[in-house]
Amino acid sequence: PVRERVEALLKRMSLDEKIGQMTQPERQAVTGDDITRYRIGSLLSGGGSTPTPNTPEAWADMTDAFQRQALATPLKVPLIYGVDAVHGHNNVVGATIFPHNIGLGATRDPGLVRRIGRATAEEVTGTGPDWTFAPCLCVARNDRWGRTYESFGEVPELPSAMSTIVEGFQGRRLDGRASILATAKHYVGDGGTTGGVDQGDTQVSEAELRRVHLPPFRAAVRRGVGSVMISFNSWNGVKLHGHRYLITDVLKRELGFSGFVISDWNGIDQIDGQPGFTAAEVTTAINAGLDMIMVPYDWKRFIEVLRGEVQAGRVPMARIDDANRRILTKKFELGLFERPLADRRYLDTVGSDRHRALARHAAARSQVLLKNAGNVLPLRRNNNKIFVAGKSADDIGIQTGGWTITWQGAPGAITPGTTILQGIRQNAGRNTTVTYDKEGDGIDGSYKAAVAVVGELPYAEFMGDRPGAMGLDDADLAAIAKLRASGVPVIVVLVSGRPLDIAAELPKWNALLEAWLPGTEGRGVADVLFGLARPTGKLPVTWMKSAGQQPINRGDGKDPLFPFGYGLTYRR
Ligand code: IFM
Repeated sequence: PVRERVEALLKRMSLDEKIGQMTQPERQAVTGDDITRYRIGSLLSGGGSTPTPNTPEAWADMTDAFQRQALATPLKVPLIYGVDAVHGHNNVVGATIFPHNIGLGATRDPGLVRRIGRATAEEVTGTGPDWTFAPCLCVARNDRWGRTYESFGEVPELPSAMSTIVEGFQGRRLDGRASILATAKHYVGDGGTTGGVDQGDTQVSEAELRRVHLPPFRAAVRRGVGSVMISFNSWNGVKLHGHRYLITDVLKRELGFSGFVISDWNGIDQIDGQPGFTAAEVTTAINAGLDMIMVPYDWKRFIEVLRGEVQAGRVPMARIDDANRRILTKKFELGLFERPLADRRYLDTVGSDRHRALARHAAARSQVLLKNAGNVLPLRRNNNKIFVAGKSADDIGIQTGGWTITWQGAPGAITPGTTILQGIRQNAGRNTTVTYDKEGDGIDGSYKAAVAVVGELPYAEFMGDRPGAMGLDDADLAAIAKLRASGVPVIVVLVSGRPLDIAAELPKWNALLEAWLPGTEGRGVADVLFGLARPTGKLPVTWMKSAGQQPINRGDGKDPLFPFGYGLTYRR
């Protein structure tokens, strides 16, 4: 049994070996020899930290090479390799990219989300990593926050229900085929900061923290989530990374979380607000209940400092043993000691037709129809003349958003997929012409419908915070104006990670379809445009009338443009 194996191993481990298990450098910060010499227990690829060339096989080669270095130690404790597979295996060129969580929240379909988790786990397994830093279970209360799209919704019930993705990632049993460890993040209150500031301060009472932000973590723990990531935010001025009450008393004792707790990226350094981590910060974090530290920037110094703090009695040996029990238990449960290398049988699942079909279905299910004056939608498939415009119409990078191939994502053909324009062309039937001009030039009154695909450019984390205006950019407005000037009915497809400030424009549009960040399979959006799939998505967040109404996300948004749960469909 796992417990006995853990205890037997622990008895043989030195303090340095134990500290190695608690250290997770970024893979570019170590050499292979470092892993062997310092008994490193875990590595990660930060967003965009990919092998060259960025192929599924190169990933498997890379993770296997690191793993062999870990196995070249006396105790042969395998590495656990982590990656941000947050909407599919999104770091790998050619992988299937699913809609970001906000779109999945709109589907209200926990079973679909579980299937997405399973598909993602297969793609990750084939390429080597054993662990994903997902799901983000944040409850997004302010759309100014740059991570709003990583949220399943603004009320705790949505992320709680969608935590089925944990079961998808981890499979029925962790040692089953293609099971990867899941991470519930970011604990806790990340979506509730004042002003919607990433890594900010969540100024709420304990009652509200427990009512709004804690329940999704309770749900994930019940579903057996193997790890929890601590959030960069503070709770009433105290950084979560040093919060013993919330980590040890609430998460581990009260919720009964038996997996291990990992920090966010160099998160220990933020505890005292000064640059560079101190011994006091290391001690505070470990004693608060952190079991593994992600990317202490100077990881060698971290190892030295923690050793010194243990030897000085400031960090109890019992705490180090507890952290190791938690980590090693998951490694044994995952079967890493028996099968430490990439399971290359799953390589052919990466970007497979089956997974892309699932992603297309998910994209269609996530669409939210917000306006459809005169039933201009669905578009007729046959004998139609359609004009398409907008910067987001023919761009995989834009429609997949942040956390795609790189941390921030980027416009362009960054990975294979079907753009929304290509999907429209593929769905167009007999005698239908589809004309595209990004800027909207060349349209005239002979067209029957004009589709403007516009919205946000990719961003991630604090880079996406929008403290100012939250409207469309000038290029988008100009393209839409040209379509409108032709007199042709205008259908706006909004590709965005959150509601935008569009109330003043909406009366000029005949229809509005919120596409969120649909992923690589843009055909799912086109399926809804043509009525091959009926729109069934419901808003997972309240839609503001103006940015000044933020924070409006409370499930009962006062006087919004569209209330939480809103979403139209087509008549049969
Ligand atoms: O998992 C992420 C987290 O969401 C934000 N900081 C970095 C981590 C690892 O890339």
